[in-house]
Amino acid sequence: MTSEQARVPVDATTTHAWGSLTELSANLVPDLRGWFAADPDRAGRYTHQAADLHVDLSKNLVTDEVLATLLALADEVGLTERRDAMFAGEHINVTEDRAVLHTALRRPSDQPLTVDGQDVTGDVADELAKVYAFAEKVRSGEWTGVTGERVRTVVNIGIGGSDLGPVMAYEALEPFVQDGLEVRFVSNIDPTDVAQKTADLDPTTTLFIVASKTFGTLETLTNARLARDWLWRSLVAAGAIEDSDEGRSDAVAKHFVAVSTALDKVEAFGIDPANAFGFWDWVGGRYSVDSAIGTSLAVAIGPDAFADLLAGFHAMDEHFRTTPLDQNVPVLMGLLNVWYTNFRNAHTHAVLPYAQQLHRFPAYLQQLTMESNGKSVRWDGSPVTTDTGEVFWGEPGTNGQHAFYQLIHQGTRLIPADFIAVANPAYPLTDAVGDGKDVAAGADVHGLFLANFFAQTKALAFGKTPDEVRAEGVAEELVSARTFPGNRPTTSILAPALTPSVLGQLVALYEHITFVQGVVWGIDSFDQWGVELGKKLALEIAPAVVGDEAALAAQDPSTAALITRYRELRA
Ligand code: F6P
Repeated sequence: MTSEQARVPVDATTTHAWGSLTELSANLVPDLRGWFAADPDRAGRYTHQAADLHVDLSKNLVTDEVLATLLALADEVGLTERRDAMFAGEHINVTEDRAVLHTALRRPSDQPLTVDGQDVTGDVADELAKVYAFAEKVRSGEWTGVTGERVRTVVNIGIGGSDLGPVMAYEALEPFVQDGLEVRFVSNIDPTDVAQKTADLDPTTTLFIVASKTFGTLETLTNARLARDWLWRSLVAAGAIEDSDEGRSDAVAKHFVAVSTALDKVEAFGIDPANAFGFWDWVGGRYSVDSAIGTSLAVAIGPDAFADLLAGFHAMDEHFRTTPLDQNVPVLMGLLNVWYTNFRNAHTHAVLPYAQQLHRFPAYLQQLTMESNGKSVRWDGSPVTTDTGEVFWGEPGTNGQHAFYQLIHQGTRLIPADFIAVANPAYPLTDAVGDGKDVAAGADVHGLFLANFFAQTKALAFGKTPDEVRAEGVAEELVSARTFPGNRPTTSILAPALTPSVLGQLVALYEHITFVQGVVWGIDSFDQWGVELGKKLALEIAPAVVGDEAALAAQDPSTAALITRYRELRA
């Protein structure tokens, strides 16, 4: 297939493989108990290594024939050609006519890549060097505020991809954060967010990073103005600056930096472009944590750890780019998601990290997957011919076990789930006393935690039959309530430890899973037109909310009544 043809989506539903998968699904009676009994090597054959990630796919509802046919589907829709087109910098983001090159952000600097006449690798290396130099200045105390105090708190102001990636990674890599440094994240335009995050801060030791790809996002710019106002007021109140233009501009110069692709707008806001870090339109917001958008993270964990994160991303990129498809983890996981969505009627997908530090990972994945694949037209503008993006959701185990796992185990809906854990915890605590019954004195609590991971995936796969329930002496009228049907699919991902590299590998894994699904569905996974209408309407409605009667009269009856009621309730 030529790169030109790669721009025309193949309608997956017209492929031979799609027909075969439809038939296979109609005749498939999932039987994980039987499949494992008949094939003792199933776990071995369905387990793959991707960089440091050990990925067990064996508890999924697929046979060898289903997997082979999914791979045939990948072939028929031209997955590898489109993958290669992405890595080469072709404009596969068709609706925005842009290259999609987040993989270039972590490409080693000795592997040059020129795209649209630009030395991409060189540009990335230069910008990264600026970010690292800045991070070192803050970490060493060389960067000081107006009173000469070093920075103790960094506040990242951004939303969507300019927030979710950095906050997720900061939480995940908390053990790598330099002592005495803290990063906070302000995203919501709800004024509570900025008010709460600044309430106890010392303005003389606070540095704001305004992170916005476009530098035109209402929430971020509003929050940045609120933060700037807070800074000015509190510095004046502390006697740290004069209440003058000069004092204010000095405060901004020393307490505000920016990250954006629109450096002209950064300057218009009053931030010196010398204190701004750039990136490029070929980095989607939700794919940008490894660009300068990760500056707050680079400050917190330092250049070495950030470089390790990038190396992890790159390791997964290489796995995706070079591994044969039948052992290629992002390809297999993406195809499994297609299988469940399009052939097994699954509507959602749970991501369940058995690692407290990954507690923001599901939220991060929601933007990555749903903003990417929540589309109903294909990249040539034609309507999709099948369901697309599933709803991603999740919470860390074991909290989820005591909340929503009931529905996954015994509900009527099929919910494929990814379980993610690391073998070596950041905090290896032991329970010195135990409970004298289930938990022995000196028990390794992480072991106890992961026993839950293994138990849950086992229970979901193999369930508990009515006869097994009866054998426990359960009264006959309660047998059905206490039966577990099993055949609930899970993928298990195990890593040695939550290092920066492993985090990079995990994020890149899901980026590429998302890509694979988008290619099968023929959609542009890199635009996000669906967020525009609401933004525009909010600006149109805002005057009505604050009393403009003509703007109120222009609203539909329901919206007008809601605004009116709001105005009555607002003291
Ligand atoms: O509105 C959605 C969106 O455009 C996301 O794609 C993006 O990550 C977020 O807004 C923030 O955009 P920006 O970084 O330009 O402020």
